[in-house]
Amino acid sequence: MTVLITGGAGYIGSHTARLLTEMGRKVVVLDTLERGYRDAIPGIDLVVGDIADSRTVGKVCRKHHVDSVIHFAAYKAVGESMIEPLRYYKNNVAGSIALVETLLEHDVSRFVFSSSAAVYGTPDIAPVNEDAPLRPQSVYAQTKADIERFLASCDAVGLRSVSLRYFNAAGAHDSGDMGEDWTATANLVPVVMKVLFGASTSLDVFGDDYPTPDGSCVRDYVHVSDLADAHVKALDYLATGGTSMACNVGTGQGTSVKQLITMTESVTGRSLPHKIAPRRAGDPATVFADPTLIRAILGWRATRDLREIITSAYRWHDRHPDGYAR
Ligand code: WQD
Repeated sequence: MTVLITGGAGYIGSHTARLLTEMGRKVVVLDTLERGYRDAIPGIDLVVGDIADSRTVGKVCRKHHVDSVIHFAAYKAVGESMIEPLRYYKNNVAGSIALVETLLEHDVSRFVFSSSAAVYGTPDIAPVNEDAPLRPQSVYAQTKADIERFLASCDAVGLRSVSLRYFNAAGAHDSGDMGEDWTATANLVPVVMKVLFGASTSLDVFGDDYPTPDGSCVRDYVHVSDLADAHVKALDYLATGGTSMACNVGTGQGTSVKQLITMTESVTGRSLPHKIAPRRAGDPATVFADPTLIRAILGWRATRDLREIITSAYRWHDRHPDGYAR
């Protein structure tokens, strides 16, 4: 039987598709290639199409004997979501509903969902566990919270799901031939890499007057390959009868922006030009995961540290300064 991976030509999706393939699992990717790359998944079955296109999804389910799904396909730019709410709700929420409807028509009932720690908004305490209230602060985060709630209601129609709330995904495949597309994100690690490789002149540190040890914001950076492993474990959990749940995917370790800069300079042996800039609206001071639940239920823990995140990201961008070919 086959795993359908929506958005599997994207950053985390491609790493997950490759891991499953290397494990001998059958995989088929559905991706519009609007933000994904064919070159990110060489040798893996790809159907270019939209999750809301029930004819295409149905055909893929029948032709490939799909029995489970990992759903990555979504728009995920926080800032963009605030100025284009209709596009985000239509693509992320309406698209997910249409996808599930077609899956149920084809008796596909195991569903792993790519959610985000952004559903917590600004948590009251750190580390954050799954009992924390969901207080999304962006349209993007709200769509993730809405889909989580929709999936939880689908237990009533026989669809079991695991929603994985990623903290800060970063890094690249150990091979150096897969990684993040820095043109499509303003996240810290790819922005640091753009500075190192001359695609940007200097890093703006968005504030150093936060109530944290060094004044800069603290986050939980989790390696993309560890994230991919979490999806495999979620699939296996559902395949052995696991009940629906949502869980954090993070290391449990907080790292400040300044610490990440220091690590980058240590790993690369190069100075990283940076300057303190005004705070960025909406940035919580400290957000990092309590990974107790995912460890207990899925047996997952992060195995790669910040040094490996920076090393792998640097290797990818060094070997592929222009990223994937279009
Ligand atoms: C990390 C830290 C910035 C850029 C977002 C989404 C979340 C998830 C990950 C999808 C912050 C600081 C950043 C820069 C900086 N995405 N920073 N200069 O905001 O924690 O999380 O991306 O699921 O949903 O909310 O990630 O990488 O943008 O920022 O100082 O040029 O780096 O202030 O403290 P964030 P980020």
